[in-house]
Amino acid sequence: MSIDFRNEIRNLEPYRPGKPIKDVKREYNLNKVIKLASNENPLGCSPKVKEAIINTLDELAIYPDGNSTELKETLASTLGIDVNEILPSGGSDEMIDLIAKTYIDKDDEIIMADITFPRYIQTTEMMGGTPIIVPLKEFTFDLKGILERITNKTKIIWICNPNNPTGTMITEKEFVDFITNVPPKVLVISDEAYREYVTRDDYPFNTVELSKKHPNLLVMRTFSKAYGLAGIRVAYTIGNKDILENINKVRGPFNVNILAQSAAIAAIKDTEFLKKSYKANLEGKNYLYSEFDKLGFNYAPSETNHIFVNVGRNGQEVFLELQKRGVIIRPMKGDFIRVSIGTMEENSLFIEKLKEVLL
Ligand SMILES: Cc1ncc(COP(=O)(O)O)c(C=O)c1O
Repeated sequence: MSIDFRNEIRNLEPYRPGKPIKDVKREYNLNKVIKLASNENPLGCSPKVKEAIINTLDELAIYPDGNSTELKETLASTLGIDVNEILPSGGSDEMIDLIAKTYIDKDDEIIMADITFPRYIQTTEMMGGTPIIVPLKEFTFDLKGILERITNKTKIIWICNPNNPTGTMITEKEFVDFITNVPPKVLVISDEAYREYVTRDDYPFNTVELSKKHPNLLVMRTFSKAYGLAGIRVAYTIGNKDILENINKVRGPFNVNILAQSAAIAAIKDTEFLKKSYKANLEGKNYLYSEFDKLGFNYAPSETNHIFVNVGRNGQEVFLELQKRGVIIRPMKGDFIRVSIGTMEENSLFIEKLKEVLL
């Protein structure tokens, strides 16, 4: 079909998800397949969330509250901010897209790391912006390098803290020094998808406060990871009300569905579930670290629910060999793979199969 489309779309690649478990089972004739590829919560979600979803099922015939009022109020009172300083979205993926549509003009420069979450570069290119890539240093953000790349064309800086896929984090001091040196007309987004898993106390847990002091800072959080709600698509962003109001103009009228709103409200209230997820993740991380140490593998210190590890053999090859054996991970550049931390049973199965492939 030769209907003209926007030039910016020409070189974009569609998102290619990994194979679902059932396809891998069929292709390799396997009974058991585990997926440690998408940083999901192996514990599922809170039972209270399931109850809230069931209680909402009778309302499926009606549109959701387009303003997500109760969700905003619950978040606002939990975080001690105003309802106008919060904007829910259908996952952070949607928010990344909305921010790009709202703020990126053709030829604006958008600064991001390499490697980091791929949607930042894709949405930049989609809008005709120019990605400015600053390589990581020691697996983590080179904040000085980022500051040096700011020009009068810079519109947005994407900070993923802790970073996907490396799992590394920026400290509070580093972040405060950084944000203080960014010109106020440059939008900084702190993508905190994994913050609930952070174990170090020098992490900038206070970004909500920082966004009051620095109105050019948006803080993006999601229910997809530690809350175990990746399938329902809900996240929220905190920041200056005028910035959020601009983004609000661009979003679809009912972008957070009715089940997602109920689920998120129940999820926020179940802090016990979060503690359980944190504990299980830490236990799994320590187990995987000790196995990697025994194998002599180098890995980046992770403050997330995934580990970026050098397995000493091409990541793509290792991915395919593991997949044949019923373990799905994510291949990375060179000899690196990214593995999500699963249940202890999944973690030990992964190690068993990894040894089979490599030794
Ligand atoms: C850093 C980061 N940001 C955003 C997302 C998207 O999350 P959501 O499920 O909320 O769209 C992910 C998902 O993997 C992520 O790792």
